[in-house]
Amino acid sequence: MAKTLGVSISCGNAANEYFRLKNAVLYRGDALKAETFCEEFADLIVTSPPYNVDIQYGSNDDALSYKEYLDFSERWIKNCLSWSAPQARFLLNIPLDKNKGGQKSVGADLTHIAQDVGWKYHSTIVWNEGNISRRTAWGSWLSASSPFVIAPVELIVALYKDEWKKTRGSRISDINKQEFMEWTNGLWAFNGESKKRVGHPAPFPLQLPYRAIKLFSYVGDVVFDPFSGSGTTMIAAIKNDRIAVGLEIDENYCELSRKRILRETNKLDI
Ligand SMILES: C[S@@+](CC[C@H](N)C(=O)[O-])C[C@H]1O[C@@H](n2cnc3c(N)ncnc32)[C@H](O)[C@@H]1O
Repeated sequence: MAKTLGVSISCGNAANEYFRLKNAVLYRGDALKAETFCEEFADLIVTSPPYNVDIQYGSNDDALSYKEYLDFSERWIKNCLSWSAPQARFLLNIPLDKNKGGQKSVGADLTHIAQDVGWKYHSTIVWNEGNISRRTAWGSWLSASSPFVIAPVELIVALYKDEWKKTRGSRISDINKQEFMEWTNGLWAFNGESKKRVGHPAPFPLQLPYRAIKLFSYVGDVVFDPFSGSGTTMIAAIKNDRIAVGLEIDENYCELSRKRILRETNKLDI
């Protein structure tokens, strides 16, 4: 793929280009459809998929059975592998555990699925979301009969295609010493994002893709988010001189992203 994003990377009409800047393009389309893109274009994927916790997104069902959720996960994670360039990195933000409607090891299950479809495992960052309480119940209060344990953290699983060592791309890193030392410690601590402030039901904070981009990609790399939501990953990519590609199924969130990206990156709509 031309690193200027001069051409469309979608296959025919599989995804519609919703808006474009010089180095950023948001597609409206479906991460479950293999034909959405027909090129290996992504150098770094940073994404947070729907968690299947009954969030009212507008265009997708977030209350699947666990089996259906794992099938959904397998489909889009596999697609991402075929949309990735050699040596691509995949930073997957997912829950550690699921508690509502039965305990499930979501983090472990999705990490296994990613490896089953061909991604290689590198490491896991634990994100301590200081301001979010995940507690919904104590189970058996002050009794060992059935207490509930819940960690106020999420995972950011680092996977890669073929090989970890990056020999492709500009080879220009823009991370400073303090950032590198702090962020290679796999316990990240920063607050979650406010739904109200962003206007989306489940945004992640800019800090998450910002760190992932500076730590795991070179200047000029193509950064892709297949569940772009309010456009947070695209904003972080644009701010860091990467090429931003987003995919989002819901038209309202595409429009929200367009406005937010223009506002937060001070770019002109061209
Ligand atoms: C957890 S949110 C991502 C939020 C994003 N990280 C942000 O900061 O705004 C998941 C997003 O995926 C979108 N989505 C759900 N199913 C999709 C699909 N099959 N293809 C593309 N987008 C989808 C939802 O509309 C929602 O905006």
